Amino acid sequence: MCPPEHFKVTYSINPWMDPGKPVDVPLALAQWEDLRDRYRALGHTVEELVPRAGLPDMVFSANGATVIDGRVLGARFAHAERSEEAAEHLAWFRAHGFAEVAEPVHINEGEGDFAVTSSWILAGRGFRASPLSHGEAQEFFGRPVIGLDLVDPRYYHLDTALAVLDDEADEVMYYPGAFSQGSREVLRRLFPDALIASEPDAAALGMNAVSDGLHVLLPQGAVGLFEPLRERGFEPVGMDLGELLKGGGSVKCCTQELRS
Ligand code: ARG
Repeated sequence: MCPPEHFKVTYSINPWMDPGKPVDVPLALAQWEDLRDRYRALGHTVEELVPRAGLPDMVFSANGATVIDGRVLGARFAHAERSEEAAEHLAWFRAHGFAEVAEPVHINEGEGDFAVTSSWILAGRGFRASPLSHGEAQEFFGRPVIGLDLVDPRYYHLDTALAVLDDEADEVMYYPGAFSQGSREVLRRLFPDALIASEPDAAALGMNAVSDGLHVLLPQGAVGLFEPLRERGFEPVGMDLGELLKGGGSVKCCTQELRS
């Protein structure tokens, strides 16, 4: 995770971002600390990346790399405004003993568009990740990559449209409206028992959730998801990341998972 010390909305690269709207940095920091402390209280280790001035979106650390089995595929950002974040992540991994760290050839924004289940890597495309990054990830990780077409600009990254709930059981939740017709059929075929999110829950960025297999940390505004999650045996934990929502991100965007 990377603290939002330099968080601002100075440019707009997704429909949530309005540079005219002020951001309350102390409040963003308090909300972010709340999320970090919640992970720690649940027994998870949280590593912190040092934020850099001039990189206001660096708080969205999920975009900086994808880590599976301790192997790190770095990011290459679609927009110039974020491009320098990639090197910060690579440097962190190299300094922290990760032996296999690759700089990608094709555009991918880390876990923004890559979601990991036990069987597959689900990979979004349409707004950010290049379709060519899917083959690159498949080759690097040796896991089958399933490409999914995103069609609604509000759900510009896969992690705004789908969340993995149980990565051992291939259990997911998603908002069908974010996907093309064909990709919806693919999702139905792979995940016939998925939790299907409503439009209001998706619009509260409810799909931008992180699950440890039991606790599901998600934006508190996605009220319609709490009961269905409980029915499936999960413990929903609502988080208020309202300031970060102004950048178009929430729980998952602020969290990159270090899968060892
Ligand atoms: N403002 C950032 C962008 O548009 C938000 C990134 C959110 N991160 C995510 N994993 N969806 O790139």
